[in-house]
Amino acid sequence: MKTNYFDLNGKVVVVTGACGVLGQTIVRYFGTQGARVVLLARAHSAEKAEGIVADIKKAGGEAMFLACDVMDKASLEACRQAILDNYGTIDVLLNAAGGNMPAATVPPDKTIFDLDVDAVRKVVDLNLFGTIIPTLVFARVMADNKKGSIINFCSESSFRPLTRVAGYGAAKSAVASWTKYLAGEMALKFGDGIRVNGIAPGFILSEQNRTLLTNPDGSLTPRSEKILGHTPFGRFLESDELLGTLHYLASDASAAVTGTISIVDGGFESFSI
Ligand SMILES: NC(=O)c1ccc[n+]([C@@H]2O[C@H](COP(=O)([O-])OP(=O)(O)OC[C@H]3O[C@@H](n4cnc5c(N)ncnc54)[C@H](O)[C@@H]3O)[C@@H](O)[C@H]2O)c1
Repeated sequence: MKTNYFDLNGKVVVVTGACGVLGQTIVRYFGTQGARVVLLARAHSAEKAEGIVADIKKAGGEAMFLACDVMDKASLEACRQAILDNYGTIDVLLNAAGGNMPAATVPPDKTIFDLDVDAVRKVVDLNLFGTIIPTLVFARVMADNKKGSIINFCSESSFRPLTRVAGYGAAKSAVASWTKYLAGEMALKFGDGIRVNGIAPGFILSEQNRTLLTNPDGSLTPRSEKILGHTPFGRFLESDELLGTLHYLASDASAAVTGTISIVDGGFESFSI
């Protein structure tokens, strides 16, 4: 029996979308847990990423930043080599790059026939292929080691479609399906040391969704009222409320857990009336 199933000391944790709202919170947290954290973000976020790396190091942690695009396999392969050169291995991959685009939605005054198919394709590309491609690159190291944990970012719209967000729902339900598929595939071909799970965060107020969820005076939009009316907790979540679940999924505490999606949402998904 281990004495600490949650130990992340020395683990190499790779995070895509590391400069995003959730990514930043995640990399800073893993930095406090003894992990060696790799921040992956696009080149235009370099300054922000280097600032986060400096903060993690100042607090006694270990981190590095590498620029890449999650849609570009060659850039990810270059990152994999740099990670292996610096830290020697890869233990955990969090696929936190993703998001929505206004053009891939159907607002109340439009119909599905107004939908911008190219925008939907971009949202599916980013969320689905932006998860698949980094996994194919970084899980190669896990397959060689016969050990690793992959965590994908799903959503409430992975389970049931939400109004408006047509492209995002299609993408995130596909990410959930891919997560479950890959869990089986990796275990069958590479053994029970490699695990693939998802996290489905509830609604977190961020810069990206602020105009959809709050009015300029800070009051809630009708959509927010509906969301909170359907959330037993009656509030939005904070980014740091995901951290305990992510820590569990990343560590040996969840050694027999694969193909699952952890819902962290104040009760939204399970609630009826
Ligand atoms: N914030 C929420 O309420 C919420 C809820 C459920 C699910 N999620 C999901 O969690 C994940 C993180 O969300 P977030 O709120 O931090 O979003 P965010 O927009 O703040 O962060 C996403 C990051 O991905 C990066 N990115 C976009 N395209 C990229 C590309 N081609 N290559 C590399 N990086 C790229 C962006 O620059 C950004 O930094 C996303 O998949 C999102 O869909 C978020």
